[in-house]
Amino acid sequence: MPDSTIIFSAIHGLAATVWVGGMFFAYFILRPSLGQLEPPQRLAVWNSVFKRFLKLVWIIVIALPLTGYAQVYMDFGDFDSAGLAINSMHIVGLLMIALFVYLYVGPYQKFGAAVAASEWPVAAGHLNSIRQIVHANTMLGLITVVIGSSGRFWG
Ligand code: HEM
Repeated sequence: MPDSTIIFSAIHGLAATVWVGGMFFAYFILRPSLGQLEPPQRLAVWNSVFKRFLKLVWIIVIALPLTGYAQVYMDFGDFDSAGLAINSMHIVGLLMIALFVYLYVGPYQKFGAAVAASEWPVAAGHLNSIRQIVHANTMLGLITVVIGSSGRFWG
């Protein structure tokens, strides 16, 4: 096995772990824990959480497909030979990336502008849209991790 395959596979696995783990933590742990704060404080915390995390996610949404495609072409030759699991991971992965880009250019920009203007109810509305997208992407991410890590035994 070429060294590059090992490196691509390691980067792919790390990128998936940080993205899906980060969303899981945000949705299931941080969100209920911040529920006791007043809206201005809560929304300001989310604003700085997003500023840090979403920067990282931009790197991840570039690294995941690049390392995924590299593995497809180097290990399997093409998508036809790669099998059902990898083809499903590819489709769900692209859907997750599209949802992230939509979140970033849509609700997240509006949320940031509303927080900067101290328009708390407006910001809370956009945060709710972000929450729904992050929920969907967390579920898709968990499914993709199951497919990615177990697919070689059934796909
Ligand atoms: C976007 C297009 C993607 C492509 C083309 C792709 C392709 C691949 C390939 C070829 C493998 C190696 C499978 C094997 O050797 O049996 C793999 C593994 C894996 N993928 Fe993906 N993948 C993509 C997106 C994703 C996403 C979005 C996630 C999770 C968020 C993910 C999670 C994993 C995991 C956990 C593994 C197993 C560990 C590893 O090999 O790094 N993949 N993927």
